[in-house]
Amino acid sequence: MKNIVILISGDGSNMDAIIRTAKAQHWEKHLQAKVACVISNKPTAKGLNLAQQHGISTQVVDHTAFSNITNPREAFDTALIKEIDQHTPALVVLAGFMRILTPVFVAHYEGRLVNIHPSLLPAFPGLHTHQRAIDTGCKFAGATVHQVTAELDHGHILAQAVVPILENDTADSLSARVLTQEHLIYPAAIEKLLKD
Ligand code: GAR
Repeated sequence: MKNIVILISGDGSNMDAIIRTAKAQHWEKHLQAKVACVISNKPTAKGLNLAQQHGISTQVVDHTAFSNITNPREAFDTALIKEIDQHTPALVVLAGFMRILTPVFVAHYEGRLVNIHPSLLPAFPGLHTHQRAIDTGCKFAGATVHQVTAELDHGHILAQAVVPILENDTADSLSARVLTQEHLIYPAAIEKLLKD
């Protein structure tokens, strides 16, 4: 069985879309793949409840627990690796996981680590992508699924969705429209990776 581990920090709507697609398309039967665990760095992440409602086991590795020790980022990533590796994952899926990962973490999962970013990369890596696209006067925005490398929001592009920016768009209205596209391209890109 190819185990998928999903990392979240918030609502988990992409996670939800992946779990729903896996069920609807019978990934366990057709791809010998399943979502084995959902892990959050925030105990309050809404997506944790959602995962549990789907019958998926959840874990929390709270990054704030590491803030007072030497090398907190490295210590957090080491703890996270330990938790993830209990599931011997074929794929580690970042779905709104709002942490900058250490090069050691990224190297550990090289070729097995994917992310979705709410912009048409290489445009607008980092935060506040929708507001930045609006402020720049872009006519189109979108989302990108990509392999994760040590450089933030870089790496081989696996899928993109394009959404027009409308005249009265706010960051919120644009974000909502992009998100509906994310829910389509992320499960499809993962399905393709599992087939390859
Ligand atoms: C999504 O828009 C995702 O692209 C973005 O966070 C949101 C999470 O929503 N990710 C990043 O900004 C990563 N740099 P979700 O929790 O409902 O899936």
